[in-house]
Amino acid sequence: MRKKIVLFLLAMLPMVHIYAQQTLIRISTDETDLILQTAETGRLYQSYLGAKLVNDTDLKNLTPYISRPSTDSSVTPRGWEVYPGSGAEDYFEPAFVMQHNDGNLTTIVKYVSHEVKPIDGNATETIIQLKDEVYPVEITLHYVAHARENVIKTWSEIRHTEKKPVTMSQYASAIVYFEDTQYFLNEFSGDWASEAGMTSQQLRFGKKIIDTKLGSRAAMHAYPFFQVGLGQKVQENQGKVLVGTIGWTGNFRFTFEMDNVSNLRVISGINPYASNYELKPNETFTTPEFIFTLSQEGAGKASRSLHTWARNYQLKDGKGDRLTLLNNWESTSFDFDEKILSDLMKEAKELGVDMFLLDDGWFANKYPRVNDHAGLGDWDVMHSKLPNGIPGLVQSAKEAGVKFGIWIEPEMISPKSELFEKHPEWAILLPNREPYYYRNQLVLDLSNPVVQDYVFGVVDKIMTENPDIAYFKWDCNSPITNIYSPYLKEKQRQLYVDHVRGVYNVFNRVNEKYPDLPIILCSGGGARCDYEALKYFTEFWCSDNTDPVERLYIQWGFSQVFPIKSMAAHVTSWNHAASIKFRTDVAMMCKFGFDISITEMDKNELAFCKEAVANYHRLKKVILDGDFYRLVSPYESNHTAVMHVGEGAGQALLYTYDIHPRFGGKLFPVKLQGLDPHRNYTVKEINLMPGTTSRLKENGKSYSGDYLMKVGIEAFTLGQMNSRVIELTAE
Ligand code: DGJ
Repeated sequence: MRKKIVLFLLAMLPMVHIYAQQTLIRISTDETDLILQTAETGRLYQSYLGAKLVNDTDLKNLTPYISRPSTDSSVTPRGWEVYPGSGAEDYFEPAFVMQHNDGNLTTIVKYVSHEVKPIDGNATETIIQLKDEVYPVEITLHYVAHARENVIKTWSEIRHTEKKPVTMSQYASAIVYFEDTQYFLNEFSGDWASEAGMTSQQLRFGKKIIDTKLGSRAAMHAYPFFQVGLGQKVQENQGKVLVGTIGWTGNFRFTFEMDNVSNLRVISGINPYASNYELKPNETFTTPEFIFTLSQEGAGKASRSLHTWARNYQLKDGKGDRLTLLNNWESTSFDFDEKILSDLMKEAKELGVDMFLLDDGWFANKYPRVNDHAGLGDWDVMHSKLPNGIPGLVQSAKEAGVKFGIWIEPEMISPKSELFEKHPEWAILLPNREPYYYRNQLVLDLSNPVVQDYVFGVVDKIMTENPDIAYFKWDCNSPITNIYSPYLKEKQRQLYVDHVRGVYNVFNRVNEKYPDLPIILCSGGGARCDYEALKYFTEFWCSDNTDPVERLYIQWGFSQVFPIKSMAAHVTSWNHAASIKFRTDVAMMCKFGFDISITEMDKNELAFCKEAVANYHRLKKVILDGDFYRLVSPYESNHTAVMHVGEGAGQALLYTYDIHPRFGGKLFPVKLQGLDPHRNYTVKEINLMPGTTSRLKENGKSYSGDYLMKVGIEAFTLGQMNSRVIELTAE
């Protein structure tokens, strides 16, 4: 017997040896270290996530068991497991839960191996293999660390070789842990026309969940990103801030759980709501990417890290140019004909923008799209309205001297459409209950590959027939309602996940065939804004609310995570009380366009807009590719200010807005950021209404960057909805 035990121990030696070595995996950017470590058991723990450690020799002092269990010394120490399953000694929220073929609900994975590969010159990918020793389950964790941009993206792959499918009831992308004195969450929530509103709360014991169950148009109420202030509230320019976002254009979930010893775990992934996923043997379930940055200098720095990273690696044509445009939705809605459109194209030319964008209402014949009650799915041009078809419109745009772009909503179907008559089984629709319609429409079942082909075909047909189309606006106005897929039959629980995968299949095919086609992602305003979709889209529509005052808040919210060049903003006639200058100055901060007829403008207003467009074209390198600084928050005063700083700090643009200042309210100078303290800058107010001159005290003068950043510019006024755009040029 003793001999057998000795032999057994000898056989175990190599394994014990590996574990005893306590493998340490260091995932680093230039500013952050994420350190994972195995314990004697072979399980993998997060032993550090914070500011980069300067001395390599300090790493040996880290321990895998950072989570002190309690004051009770008889309790075996527990750690922050990197990918915890359910049923073990961690009594808080796990990353994944899987029911094995024998009904058992525990999965405990141990370290097997890891490798580190350089990618994209400036990044590394660490791939870690884990497996359960009791059940044939393997997990692969991926961490891509972008050194210069200080951004890490991570995702997981789950696989098994059990005899029959296993059922997963949770399958997060990642979990990260923090130990600090207190934690404050900034969440972003809203609705149609009130997107990305920012609220802050202190996290206390227990869980706070941000999630969505809308299926498509998934971010209508909660946006797929968050900020956590570590040790203090999130501040713009100082303090530790985690900013995280999930690349998933469907139901997502963030869980923030503070445990018994006041440590925080943040779990990010697909929302497993009504989505127990059946994973077949040898099939790989790949989770979405969780993307995060950890800033030691506040939210502003975190935003700039994400912006630069997105432009360099994630956003479609992230380094490329963007088109200015005139859209017709706000001025015509569904009421247009060829004459109205060709007049608008001429107006686009007059304004000086690059393109005319035709919106909703140009298609369907049997059930014409004259309002939002019919026609989605029938993507043939409406002959009664546009007898010369899309080619006629492309031709008119050519004659006017502008490019032509077109709106589609190809994932949707109107019950009043020929497509629905032909293929009612393509719609997500319950067979045995009264339908509920959101905007009078239904969502096509993208879990069905035949429907994926059809949706791809919508774009492909328009492009094949009209190769000169320069731009698409891809809308998505309905959440999934009447949740039943005729295609998935008894596997309804996979609908939410498989539908989104089908959407990506279509996005991917469009992108592969038309890699240079700019497309704006729109979802009844800004309800689709995530970094997976943005691999296929050059920009997104932030909101149908173009009231400039509201937009200041909405743009403030989205800019926390998304680069300016991805955020589309248009001048419209929402809020007539605001001057055209104020409306323009607000839109010009982002990817600029118009959605207004110039016939609504007087001579001066038109001249002003033309000059603003010319200024935008002249300065767009700074606006689209510069560093973005949020200087004064609209949430904290009656004024707000932001600025763009071009590469090398040679040129910058300051925007100041007085929203509704109080009579006799305190004015304060705006302190700039990002300038070179040792260079002098000439200050010049631009975007002035014809016939007016700048009343800015500093206009035309020169100041050092140091002065402008420490003393500032007296740009705010007590005027209602007053704005200034100020150009700074290094001498
Ligand atoms: C919602 C979008 O946000 C609007 O800009 C417009 O395109 C309408 N849909 C058209 O139906």
